[in-house]
Parts: sequence; structure tokens; C-alpha cells
Amino acid sequence: MRDAIVLYVNGARREVRGAAAFLTLSDWLRYEQRLTGTKVVCAEGDCGACTVLLGRRSGDRPWRFDPINACILTMAQLDGAHVLTIESVESNGALHEVQRAMCDNHGSQCGFCTPGFVMAMLGHFEHNPKERATPKQVANHLTGNLCRCTGYLPILDAAVDVRPEALESVVARHHSTQIESALDAIARDSLHIEDPERGAVHAPATVSELFALRAKHPDARIIAGNTDLGVMVNKQKLWPAGTARRAISLHLLHELDGVKVEEAQVTIGARATLGEVERAVKDAAPDFSRLLRVFASPQIKNAGTLVGNVANGSPIGDTIPSLYALGAEVELSSARGARWVPIDQFYLGYRKTQLAEDEVVTRVRFAPLGDKALFRAFKICQRRDLDISYVGAAFYLAHDGEVIREARVAYGGVGPTVLRLRDVERMLAGVALRDEAAWERVAEAIERAVTPRSDLRGSEEGRRVLSGNLLRKLGYELRGEVFA
Ligand SMILES: Cc1cc2nc3c(=O)[nH]c(=O)nc-3n(C[C@H](O)[C@H](O)[C@H](O)COP(=O)(O)OP(=O)(O)OC[C@H]3O[C@@H](n4cnc5c(N)ncnc54)[C@H](O)[C@@H]3O)c2cc1C
Ligand code: FES
Ligand code: FES
Repeated sequence: MRDAIVLYVNGARREVRGAAAFLTLSDWLRYEQRLTGTKVVCAEGDCGACTVLLGRRSGDRPWRFDPINACILTMAQLDGAHVLTIESVESNGALHEVQRAMCDNHGSQCGFCTPGFVMAMLGHFEHNPKERATPKQVANHLTGNLCRCTGYLPILDAAVDVRPEALESVVARHHSTQIESALDAIARDSLHIEDPERGAVHAPATVSELFALRAKHPDARIIAGNTDLGVMVNKQKLWPAGTARRAISLHLLHELDGVKVEEAQVTIGARATLGEVERAVKDAAPDFSRLLRVFASPQIKNAGTLVGNVANGSPIGDTIPSLYALGAEVELSSARGARWVPIDQFYLGYRKTQLAEDEVVTRVRFAPLGDKALFRAFKICQRRDLDISYVGAAFYLAHDGEVIREARVAYGGVGPTVLRLRDVERMLAGVALRDEAAWERVAEAIERAVTPRSDLRGSEEGRRVLSGNLLRKLGYELRGEVFA
């Protein structure tokens, strides 16, 4: 059992013990390592000023470096990882090609956002080193970064101006197979850090150890990507300053890694990030993958997990309506064994689930879509990127080309939990794809079935009308009348 977090920062090994293990990565970099190039503005994952590259073993590739928000990750999660900060980018006093492009295109004014933008761009070029970035790719890739000075165009111009022939891989300069072997060896041993004031953090190396810990400490919080929990901690809604915490981090549990896509089943492990899911289900559930494009930002999707979204249980959690409509099941496991629960039976009320005190969510699974099934998912919010849903909806329609045979319909943001509308599903079975009048009757039934409330994002009436309109929109799409 280790009592120290082991990680690499810009190619150098570091060990972290005691109270420092409870810091955010950004605070640790800035205050303990004096790597002050990583900035903090919002401390809630929204602005990207704190972006660094996180390298670790992951489900879809052996080792992968991706941009993440250092302000909401806790140090324990960095155990076994390699972090590259802005200080790693220049080489012997010479600017990296991305930095050169930012200067030449006037992509920096006050400069506070600049390290975050450079690291986010590097994340793109590390995976796409051979081609110039297109404006669309860049705009998508930089959705997690805000700038209050430049108006963005010079930054987008800079990214497009980066010349592949002048690019050097920062990962290749600092990372090596020796580092991987050293970190792999460390990750086989579990971690337990106890601090009299800050509390305790455990990181089991096997699932049986996880179940034993869960049974012993039912009050402990499970940490997956920490993108929900990290914000709550920073805003002092969880473990306010001066209170001790107990957390169990899943970061060493490679048994829970990855997304397995098989003919009969897609299975998503508790550690699979939303980014991995987005890439993996492109063929098995294309519209689910498309929905994940507008989930948060690349930085959040590189840390946050699908299972974290499910376990968090928000009625506006973006993946949940889709998982209802896909007929997904959730695996709840403990030392007593494992049980698969249909996701629409998992939620018992507002943020209340069936999870027993000694259980954790280990996997989510659903069947891939066949040729005769149509699946559509919608996320409605006030801006396209990095916004919380106002209403979410997902539809699964099995049909024979003319008539709907079976339907699953789920809505988020219009009730205390995501709602599965079974009466509406019964109405849809037998409806001809082109029967506009029947679709209108179903849309009106949806408006009666949902139970939205007014809040600062919108009114009860607006949500109700929108709910019906999403089915009307799907009908128009199917009839090829409007909306590409
Ligand atoms: C800037 C920002 C933007 C966001 N945008 C979106 C968005 O567009 N759509 C959206 O739906 N959400 C969004 N979120 C919320 C969050 O990113 C997601 O809910 C994410 O999926 C959470 O996953 P995680 O791994 O980070 O969970 P964590 O924060 O680690 O955990 C979330 C909760 O689930 C519990 N938990 C995690 N794993 C397990 C497990 N295996 N078993 C039992 N309990 C578990 C934790 O104890 C905790 O209570 C956003 C968050 C931020 C900070
Ligand atoms: S400081 Fe804003 S995302 Fe981290
Ligand atoms: S240059 Fe000032 S915030 Fe971007």
C-alpha cells in the first residue's frame, strides 16, 4: 500500500504526500511547484485558463495525452499520470510552432488565457500532426477556452496558421516508454493517504478491494473524473474548508476502463471518459456520438465519465435520455455480487438512485442500433457549446420502413428525474412514419405528459411546448420536409 501519489510533470518524477494530496492540480502546480504558467480564472471547468495535457493509460489506446482542466482535478487522480504544462512547450528559449503562430497572429493581448489556449491547441496537434487544422476543427476543439480580449478571430487564425512541417511533438520530447513502465509498476499498488485535517483518499488497485472499501466506508464519495465533484468542492458545497473528507478514487482500476463494441452489446466501463465513448460509438449509435459532440468541452470530456453522468443523476444529465431510449442497463456491483438494472428503473426521485450503500456502478451496456431502428437525440440549450440543457430528449423507433413497431421516448429537464413516456410510446407503436396527423396527436400527448418547472433557464410553458416540438421536428425530418 502506497502513501504517496506518484506522477511525472514535464518529464520529471514527483511524489505527493499528506495535505498536498487534497489540492487541485492547478493549486499544486502553482503553489507547490511554482509552475505559475497554468492560470486559474473560474475554478469550475468553464474557461480553460488552467488547461494542461494529461497523459495516462486509457481504454481506447495504451497511452494518450489530452487537454484537461487542472482547476477541478484533485491530486489523487493524477497518481500514475504524466502532466505537461505550458512550461514544457518552449524548447531552449525558442518558441514552439503553436506559440509562434499565436504571436504572429496577435492571438494574445492581456495573455491570461494564452497558456490555456496553447495547451488546448497542442492537444489537437499532438493527435493530428500532419495536417493543417481547418477553421471548423479549431472552433470545435477550442470550445472549452474563453478569451475576454481578442474577440477570438486572431486565436482561430493562429491555430489555422500552425505549419505541420514546423511542429514538434511536446509529448515526444518529454515522455518515454521508461516513464510508462515506471508508472505502470506503481499503478499495481493501491494508494491510501490520510491527513488529520483534510481527511482520507483511497485508490484501490483491484475491484475486490474497491468493494471492501465501499462496504467499510459507505459515507465515502466515489471519484471518477471529478468534473461534477471538483466544482462542488471548489464552490464549498461539498467538504467546505475545515471539514474532513473521505473519497475513493477509481483511477487505478483498469478493469473498469474502456468501451467494448461488440455485435450484440456496447459495454462502457466506469472509467471510460465521455471522449472515449464519443469516439467508440460512432457506428454503433451515431446520434449518441453526435450528441456527445455538444457535451461540455473537450477538456471536460477528457476527464468526465459517462458513468459519472449516470451516477450523478441530474434530471438534465445529457447522456441519460439517450441511455433510456437506447434501452441501456446499469451494472451495480458490490462484494455481494453484481446486478444489471434497466436505467429507467435506476432513478427513484430527484438525484436518488437504487444504488445500495455498499454498491458502485461498474458498467453501462446497450444493444447497438440495427438497420430498422432509428435513434435521435436532442440537446436544447441557450448556446451550442458548454451549456447546460434546457430540455433534452431521445427517441428510439423500431420500424419496418413504413410503420413504427416499437418506441422508446425519454425527456430530460422536464421533471425531477429523466422521464420515460410509456403512454406516448404505446401511442407511437403502429403509427405510420408519414402520418402527420398521428404525429401531431403524439406531440400534444407529450406536452400533457411532461411536468416541467420554471427556473432561471426558462419557463414551464416554454419547456412544455419545446417538448412537443422536438417530436414534431423528428416527424418533419423523417418526412424529409425541413431541417437537414
Ligand atoms: C464546465 C462543465 C461543463 C459540463 N457540461 C455538461 C454537459 O454539457 N452535460 C452534462 O450532462 N453534464 C455536464 N457537466 C457535468 C459533468 O461533467 C458530467 O456529469 C460528467 O459526466 C461527470 O462525470 P465524472 O466522471 O466527472 O463524475 P464525478 O464528478 O467523478 O462524479 C459524479 C457523481 O457520481 C458519483 N460516481 C461517479 N462514478 C461512480 C461510480 N462508478 N459508482 C457510483 N457513484 C459514482 C460520484 O460520487 C459523484 O457523486 C459539466 C461539468 C462542468 C464542470
Ligand atoms: S480556471 Fe476556468 S476552467 Fe479552470
Ligand atoms: S488575451 Fe486577455 S483574456 Fe485572452
